[in-house]
Amino acid sequence: MALIVLVLAVGIFSLSRYPLTMHTPQLEQHIPAICPVRTDPDSLSVYGRDWSTLYPARPSGIAFPETIEQVIALVHWANQQQMALVPSGGRTGLSGGATASQGELVVSFERMNQILNFDPVAASITCQPGVITQTLQDYAAERGWYYPVDFAARGSSQIGGNIATNAGGINVIRYGLTRNWISGLKVVTGRGELLDLNKGLIKNATGYDLRHLFIGSEGTLGFIVEATVQLTRPPQQPRVLVLAVPELADVMAVFTAFRQHLELSAFELFTANCMRHVVARGVPQPFAVSSDYYLLIEFESASDEPMDTALQLFEQLLEQGKVIDGVASESEAQAQALWQLREDITEATAVYQPYKNDIAVPVGQIVPFLQAANDLLSREYPDYEVLWFGHIGDGNLHIGVLKPAELDSSEFAQRCAAVTEQLAQLLAQFNGSISAEHGVGLTKKAYLSYTRSATEINYLRTLKQVFDPNGILNPGKIFD
Ligand code: MLT
Ligand code: ZN
Repeated sequence: MALIVLVLAVGIFSLSRYPLTMHTPQLEQHIPAICPVRTDPDSLSVYGRDWSTLYPARPSGIAFPETIEQVIALVHWANQQQMALVPSGGRTGLSGGATASQGELVVSFERMNQILNFDPVAASITCQPGVITQTLQDYAAERGWYYPVDFAARGSSQIGGNIATNAGGINVIRYGLTRNWISGLKVVTGRGELLDLNKGLIKNATGYDLRHLFIGSEGTLGFIVEATVQLTRPPQQPRVLVLAVPELADVMAVFTAFRQHLELSAFELFTANCMRHVVARGVPQPFAVSSDYYLLIEFESASDEPMDTALQLFEQLLEQGKVIDGVASESEAQAQALWQLREDITEATAVYQPYKNDIAVPVGQIVPFLQAANDLLSREYPDYEVLWFGHIGDGNLHIGVLKPAELDSSEFAQRCAAVTEQLAQLLAQFNGSISAEHGVGLTKKAYLSYTRSATEINYLRTLKQVFDPNGILNPGKIFD
């Protein structure tokens, strides 16, 4: 048995045109009648952007509504004044969707952060948009339930932002995206109307489901002001394996073998250089051998049977030479330690200001796509370090291109943007998507037409016009 049980203790900043008439002093005059506002330089730089680094933070101010009525009043006021509004949650987005670079008024939902109701019969929680993801998860867990949408930014992301971007994360293979867990949604449209959508119903066959139009719309159609989220039973004793896989071509053979016999809750890939960066920050290296690729697999193992199955699969794959080593967790603490190898990649490499691609292809196309992408990226980035990691079981790969320290940021961004154009063309050949889960925001809109047809984009624009005729909600995001 080779499986050991782990013992671990603006260069591309583009201006879009939209109405803007207010200046900071006027904001201070008008907004306090509606809700608290801030215009000090520190707040402007903090609330003016998300975790993406390509765009400057230049809002005019930040409004902090505390009630739905105040959000409605803000939207009415913005329509009268032709003032652009940018919604702001935990600002953990990676696509510039919550960036205000052109004097917009940021609308922060951090003061609308209350859990309003827990319904044990419906297995649901109704809450305001500013509730932190982890607060929601903990609240559910304290009552014996589980909110399964999860990702590394759980400690600061907010439920409103998760819904606005249809957040995915590490458990999508089993539980799906945020969309699957939203049974009710209150939104304030760009016209300042309040819509109460689906009202927590499980079944509701009454025509178009507008709820799903607002989920993932990145704050361009309406602002989410309340949500009802569904819960499920907590997973029983999740176990984690990390396997060392030498050949890219074998990655999905491992996936097929495990998925056929176990109910997987995660199937993640990361490359040797990701492991090196994470280990350099102090996360224990679990292997004596080194390998080009690593897979993290999670499944429930309430009895011995699933783990026995996993060990048998591991041994078969070992005999076939598809994996060369593996570790398994035996406790929750060990499972968390193994997850650090994957979840700490973003933080461990943030210092290199990575240019991020977040792509998806149909799961069956992963290996040929990755082989073609590898050819493209090795040819176009011979002198840059490129990280591959992500939710490979969903067909979703994150590509992080690290900026060499001496290289000017805007030159780096321009070069990466040009390569992204080629990547987008390749994705189109594979029926892929230029954004799997981070959203289009500002960073991907130049490539939208490789994933969505011109006819589709026309319909998106028409929908925007219907819900936000004056174009005041998060203008310039997704498309111009
Ligand atoms: C992840 O899966 O770790 C996140 O989507 C963050 C990232 O891509 O950096
Ligand atoms: Zn991700």
